[in-house]
Amino acid sequence: MTTVLVLNGPNLGRLGSREPDVYGAQDLDALRALLEAAAPEGTTIDLRQTDDESELIHWIHEAADTGSPVILNPAAFTHYSYALRDAVSLVTKAEGTVIEVHISNPHAREQFRHTSVISGVATGVIAGFGFESYLLALTAIRRMH
Ligand code: DQA
Repeated sequence: MTTVLVLNGPNLGRLGSREPDVYGAQDLDALRALLEAAAPEGTTIDLRQTDDESELIHWIHEAADTGSPVILNPAAFTHYSYALRDAVSLVTKAEGTVIEVHISNPHAREQFRHTSVISGVATGVIAGFGFESYLLALTAIRRMH
């Protein structure tokens, strides 16, 4: 039995109504349903969202303790949170898996989105495929574990 943590950072709780031209018209419940439908037998999807940096870091620590693979959309924290980077690093340096995902392609957007302080310590990065980014990350986890 594997639990995949699908962790979402600030403002992603507003998916569905937030900039639908960029992020699409579907909300987090729709994302959870997509991932659950795609998850192989014996894999549980534990999807969470927070606007709080400290809470997100504690969830990463939880993954360090349980060994659960993580799909992480750090949202705006991507671009400046060294604290989140350090948390991701402690997981990946201990052979844990954290895949950074983005719904949009940050490199095709404003300059400040071109920098990720997370990517350098993530297991891998998938961006620009809408909700499909998360499904591709789930496929990667399935093949790795
Ligand atoms: C995002 C991209 C970030 O730049 C932005 O701050 C988000 C969402 C994405 O999924 O495309 O909130 O992580």
